Amino acid sequence: LASKAELDQRILAAKDTLGERVVVLGHFYQRDEVVKYADFVGDSFQLANAAKTRPDAEAIVFCGVHFMAETADILAQPEQRVILPNLAAGCSMADMADIDSVEEAWEQLMELYADETADDGRAPIIPVTYMNSSAALKGFCGRHGGIVCTSSNAATVLQWAFERGRRVLFFPDQHLGRNTAKAMGVPLERMPMWNPRKPLGGNTDDELLDAQVILWHGFCSVHKRFSVAQIERARAEHPDVRVIVHPECPMPVVDAADEYGSTDYIVKAIGAAPAGSTFAIGTEINLVQRLANQYPQHRIFCLDDVICPCSTMYRIHPGYLAWVLEELVAGRVVNEITVGDDVAVPARVALERMLAARP
Ligand code: 13P
Ligand code: SF4
Repeated sequence: LASKAELDQRILAAKDTLGERVVVLGHFYQRDEVVKYADFVGDSFQLANAAKTRPDAEAIVFCGVHFMAETADILAQPEQRVILPNLAAGCSMADMADIDSVEEAWEQLMELYADETADDGRAPIIPVTYMNSSAALKGFCGRHGGIVCTSSNAATVLQWAFERGRRVLFFPDQHLGRNTAKAMGVPLERMPMWNPRKPLGGNTDDELLDAQVILWHGFCSVHKRFSVAQIERARAEHPDVRVIVHPECPMPVVDAADEYGSTDYIVKAIGAAPAGSTFAIGTEINLVQRLANQYPQHRIFCLDDVICPCSTMYRIHPGYLAWVLEELVAGRVVNEITVGDDVAVPARVALERMLAARP
């Protein structure tokens, strides 16, 4: 096994040789030993944009998870190669919605809404997929008048969808969908959940006819760990604490927090705070620890004191980064992520709608 120092040297040497031919993107949840080599670090929205900003680079090395690399491939230039340093870096939430189950749900819903008479010019339902989903689902949205959202623009995107449809089918993350729609004034009783194992997702005709947002049953295994009890404890121990959580957290947690927002929101909120602030953060531990190191003038801690990393993000080890970069130096592309045109073309439509709906 290579030592840290050896890996550092190998990565720097490969990056130096490749120069502008390669761009390394890193999600905020990546470990520090990977983030330090990223040419651009950001949240999933920023990284989708970043994939388009270096059309001259031959290769984009994506230090993140599979759906992010797929998105980069869809948005990048056709000749650009997208590389995921470890192909096992997936996302358990993205795996909770598969294209067959979503298509089956869609058929049932379209059949139910076929008899509906309404002359408001809106579609009966619009599909909205969270960025944390397979390219096939983004393609599905592109084919059915739908759109993609990230945690930083979910409200803007839902507004876009409400203007075009009487309802939204939101997948895979029930929590992001519920938290965002609730903040926009959608009553909880008009947000039924779709369980793909049951006919009509386990709902009655009336519930689905009256629905405004139908939520898929997915969740993030990292963010579902946060609890109201943790927030109460943080407040008891630090009366001046500012609690910020990610919208992938369950609704009671978001309600009990002072604020919620995407990873970029959290980064900016901490960056703008006066010295001596105390923050309890409900998101992935690598980001929280990095912020705590970066801002010693604040007290910053994670709500969950039993370490909560995203285990799949963590699969991008610097050893894999060194390997893929060295292969590029040798003229070989390994661990390439490619999305075929049958999926990429409609997925690009849904992604471009999202980029255009930016506030
Ligand atoms: P953002 O980068 O949009 O904040 O999302 C966090 C996340 O879970 C990525 O998988
Ligand atoms: Fe997926 Fe959750 Fe990890 Fe994000 S933090 S990549 S949603 S498992």
